[in-house]
Formats: sequence, C-alpha cells, structure tokens
Amino acid sequence: MDEYKHIKKQDPEVFAAIEGEEKREAEGLELIPSENYVSKAVREANSSILTNKYSEGYPGKRYYGGQKYTDMVETLAIERAKKLFDAKYANVQTLGGANANIAMYFALLNPGDTVLGMDLSHGGHLTHGHPVTYLTKIFNFVRYKMKDPDTGEIDYDEMRETALKTKPKIVLAGFSAYPRELNYAKFVEIAREVGAYAVMDVAHIAGLIAGRSVKNPFDAGFDIMTTTTHKTLRGPRGGMILTRESEEIAKKIDKMVFPGLQGGPHMNNIAAKAVAFGEALQPAFRTYAAQILKNAKAMAEVFKAHDIRLLTGGTDNHLILADVFGSLQITGKDAETLLDAVGITLNKNSIADDTRGPMDPSGIRFGTPAITTRKFKEKECARVAELMVVAMQKRAEPNVQKAIREEIREMCSRFPIPESHV
Ligand SMILES: Cc1ncc(COP(=O)(O)O)c(C=O)c1O
Repeated sequence: MDEYKHIKKQDPEVFAAIEGEEKREAEGLELIPSENYVSKAVREANSSILTNKYSEGYPGKRYYGGQKYTDMVETLAIERAKKLFDAKYANVQTLGGANANIAMYFALLNPGDTVLGMDLSHGGHLTHGHPVTYLTKIFNFVRYKMKDPDTGEIDYDEMRETALKTKPKIVLAGFSAYPRELNYAKFVEIAREVGAYAVMDVAHIAGLIAGRSVKNPFDAGFDIMTTTTHKTLRGPRGGMILTRESEEIAKKIDKMVFPGLQGGPHMNNIAAKAVAFGEALQPAFRTYAAQILKNAKAMAEVFKAHDIRLLTGGTDNHLILADVFGSLQITGKDAETLLDAVGITLNKNSIADDTRGPMDPSGIRFGTPAITTRKFKEKECARVAELMVVAMQKRAEPNVQKAIREEIREMCSRFPIPESHV
C-alpha cells in the first residue's frame, strides 16, 4: 500500500475505502464478465500528471497550447487501436461505452430515425434502447430476438422482415449478456439491403477480437465498432469508436465526440488506454484471450453436468448465463448475495423473456476475463463452478458455506492478482 502513502497521510477516509477495495479484490474471485484487473503500468498511466492538461481537439488540432506530449500519447493510443482492430480510424476520447454509443447515434442519425437492436432481455444493453434512457425520447428503437433461447440462434428472418418494414438507419449488433457468436454476414447483408449502417457494440468481446479468439466484425464488412476499454480488453475504464474505412463516417464521429458532446479529453485515461493497447498487441494477449474461452467452457460444462439450464445451451465467448431459478429454485438476487458471501462476485441477470422482474430475476451472469488474468486454467475454473453449484444447492448449511469461503480464500492466495501482464 506504499503507492498510496500520500493519500494515507492526507486523507485517511479515502485511503480506508481504497484499502478496503484492495483487500476485497485480493481475497475474492471476480466473475462479473465486464470486469478485469489492469496492470500496474496501466494504473500508473491513469494516475499520471497528464490529468493536469486541457487538450480539447485532436492531435495537431488543439484549442490550447502545450500539447507536445498529449499529442504523442493520443497518437499512440489511436495507432495501436487501429492495429488491434484492423480499423482505418479510431476515436479514443469517449469516456465510456455508453458515451461511445451516444456519440455514434448522434453522429449518424437525425431525431426520429430508427435503430434495429437486440432485445434487452435477450442480451442487448441499456444504451441499445431501454426505455429508461433518454435516447428513446429521441430515436425509435425496434428489436430482434433469439429464435430459441435454448440454442441462442438469432431469428434472422424476423430481423430482416422488421428491417424491411421499419427502415432503420442503423442495424446494431452487440450485447451485454449473450454467450454466442453472431452471424456477422447476415447483419451486414440486412443493413445493406435497407441502406443502414452496420454497427457492432463490441464492449464485451473487444479483448477477444483483439486477441484473435473470436471473429472481427470488420472482416464481414461492419462499418463501425463501439466499445469499452475496460472489460476483456483489460484497459482503464473508458470507451472508443472504431471506423473500418469511411473517412466521412470517422469525421462525423470525431466532430460529435468533440465538440458535439464532450469537453476536454481525459489525457491520463488516454495514456492508460495506450499502455493497455500496447499490452494487447503482445503475443501473450492472444494466449490470454484463448484461455478466457477455454475457461468459460470448462465452467459451463460443470453447470450442465449438474443439469442447470444455461441460456443458449453453453458458451462460445467469455460469459455464461444460468437460469438458477428454473433449475435450483434460487432467485438471481439471492444467488448473487449468497455467492458474494463465499467470496465469489457475479451479477443477477434477466434471462430471455424472464417472468421475474429485473431487480430479482431468474438468472445469474458470470464469466472468466478476471480469473483468467489471475492465471486460472480449466482445472481451477471447473472447481470454482463446482463450488458455486454446491453453495447454491446447500445454501441452508452454514458449515458448507464456511468451507467454501475458506477454499476460495486459499485459491486467491495461490493465484494473486498479477502486477504485470507482459
Ligand atoms: C454492450 C455494452 N455497451 C455499452 C456499455 C456501457 O459501457 P460504460 O459502462 O463504460 O458506459 C456496456 C457496459 O456494460 C455494455 O455491456
């Protein structure tokens, strides 16, 4: 904790919160599929003096002086992002994934235009048109769904019919809770047929694409990808917008991010993105991405062996969605609380067409990006899955819960969070 010595001395209250979180992360397992452990190098960049600098604009075109080093760092982030995702253009200034999607919509659409996106209870994200977002007051969101939640196949025929009927300007792929690969060619085909942009929100799987473990939507002709940088990509909290080849689109996006929606970019955060992208360009990152998938499959197999219903029947990516209410008569919320108490953090999640409400749904969602960073392999992941099932099955037995907590603590001490990822 020496790295926090100044906070410790000056502000014990904030120090206590940081110290508590450090211990929580060290002694428990993180299975929330949208979280990860960044390297010390990424954290150093994120806490660097670059936070002091105002640099509205883009490299070479700023509103204020003194930009020699900010230009250097933003250019590095852009060039590395382009290489990682085979993109011609990258905007690395968006502050998060939601901001990236908002900027993308405003750059491409007029008020009243239609977006065809994934149904939210079938895996889509809030920013893909949930009624609680302000976006739905401005744009018209229509939906596609899975044909069968037990296989995960998207109903592409219905999707095409909806597209022909509603004439969307954006056909949006991407998800927060969908464990399969999409048929990218179908999305692009439908988008082209109705004259829409093909956009994919790769927030969850960006690291898997960069690590070449799943397909790159640009290879199928998608026009744009929006993403977060802090999930499988293992960078600092933030967002990014990538354009495959159109200069016209890239210019619209840059203008919408700044000055359209945001002010001065957070240069410390952009420096941390550059460092994380540098890590993701190393060969070790491909091994990491491949292991994430193997680990998720190992966990899914254990759940299936216990006859627990998995949405889509399994996983081809980093996450798993289990219908614990249907299979073990425990609600998603109770499972989340129970597992948290034994040192396993995950989240309750709605399942397709859930009959229960979003605050206490039928499912749980969990994944392997963070424990794979901790160097867990299939054997350890299968053991964690086994412990999760036993914890839920024997929820009324305090001795069993205590023994599981102990075993998780012991696994955490054998697999400490690494400081370096290269
Ligand atoms: C698919 C998808 N898009 C966008 C976001 C929003 O990202 P952020 O929380 O960085 O705004 C998320 C975050 O969970 C996501 O899963």
